[in-house]
Amino acid sequence: MKLFDVYPLYDIEPVRAEGSYVWDEKGNRYLDLYGGHAVISIGHAHPHYVTSLTDQLQKIGFYSNSVRISMQEELAQKLGEISGYGDYSLFLCNSGAEANENALKLASFHNGRRKVIAFTKAFHGRTAGAVAVTHNPAIVAPVNYNEHVQFLPFNDADALEAALTEEVCAVIVEGIQGVGGIQVATENFLQRARAACDKTGTVLILDSVQCGYGRSGKFFSHQYAGIHPDLITTAKGMGNGFPVGGVLISPKFKASHGLLGTTFGGNHLACAAAIAVLDVIKGENLIENAAQVGAYLMENLSGLPGIKEIRGRGLMIGIETEEPAEPIRKKLLYEDHIFTGAAGKHTIRLLPSLSLTKGDADVFLEKFAGILQPQEVKG
Ligand SMILES: Cc1ncc(COP(=O)(O)O)c(C=O)c1O
Repeated sequence: MKLFDVYPLYDIEPVRAEGSYVWDEKGNRYLDLYGGHAVISIGHAHPHYVTSLTDQLQKIGFYSNSVRISMQEELAQKLGEISGYGDYSLFLCNSGAEANENALKLASFHNGRRKVIAFTKAFHGRTAGAVAVTHNPAIVAPVNYNEHVQFLPFNDADALEAALTEEVCAVIVEGIQGVGGIQVATENFLQRARAACDKTGTVLILDSVQCGYGRSGKFFSHQYAGIHPDLITTAKGMGNGFPVGGVLISPKFKASHGLLGTTFGGNHLACAAAIAVLDVIKGENLIENAAQVGAYLMENLSGLPGIKEIRGRGLMIGIETEEPAEPIRKKLLYEDHIFTGAAGKHTIRLLPSLSLTKGDADVFLEKFAGILQPQEVKG
């Protein structure tokens, strides 16, 4: 059987990884500023993470949500504490799309409405409900198209206030758009969205799948705006590679048995991974590190030639280049052995582990500057 060919691949196979580095089968070492797409939060193969998962596997790897799994309570308690959302509840699932799917369902169960407002360049996942609020017709199948979804310009609070009525079930927005090119939701926009949703009884969902879990230099990027969404979705960095997703649910939502459910969500291994991640984030002050090393990177990038704009917060950085980004990324990868991400044709995305050091950042800055320097014209 062949693989269904949906991914354009780089011809590199990482076979080992540690911290912010991965190695291919020939022993070449690569600096990983992509984090497997914002997933590696505490660094590859962190010893505490490896031990927690290995020990858990020796005990019990899985049982269904029909029995008590007290590790779920430990995870919820720790997540509440570190995020500042101790009064919210947690629903555990397996991915970002699933988290958004459940958030949309909860919002609609809550107020009985069906219309959803989303924004230009939004990405919320590929399952039915999540892809319907994703602003990319190329990945929305006819069966997923939903006439109840309205897209408004991102960061346009006037347009949002004008469109919000008591018919609107939910507003879903990324605190920092990832796939959309590292576009930061302004504090004013989020504050006005919060106030407008309060007026109409609309549920405000902050998709924090990519920008959450400390990546922005705060636990959730919307915390820069000082707002409290009704629902917050999370995944990616939550399990440092183990598939874990979650919805943080404000106390205004009433739970009832059977309202939501999943076979795999919140299993023992997922909880062991997610608890280990939170322990390391707290124990190693990784949120502060993300803020500091992110600021250092952005400051030093700003002096380089050939850059149109630098966007982002913490270790979620978008570098918009004057020249197409792909040849630059290929040079970084194949010649300098540095993994980066992309968004669109002209934006390089940095989504490294939150434990990235200034020394690692310097390696990138030096190599990147070398590529961007205008080449001398000979002759
Ligand atoms: C903001 C955002 N939401 C949702 C998703 C979907 O997450 P998953 O691929 O885990 O379903 C992503 C994935 O890139 C994302 O960036």
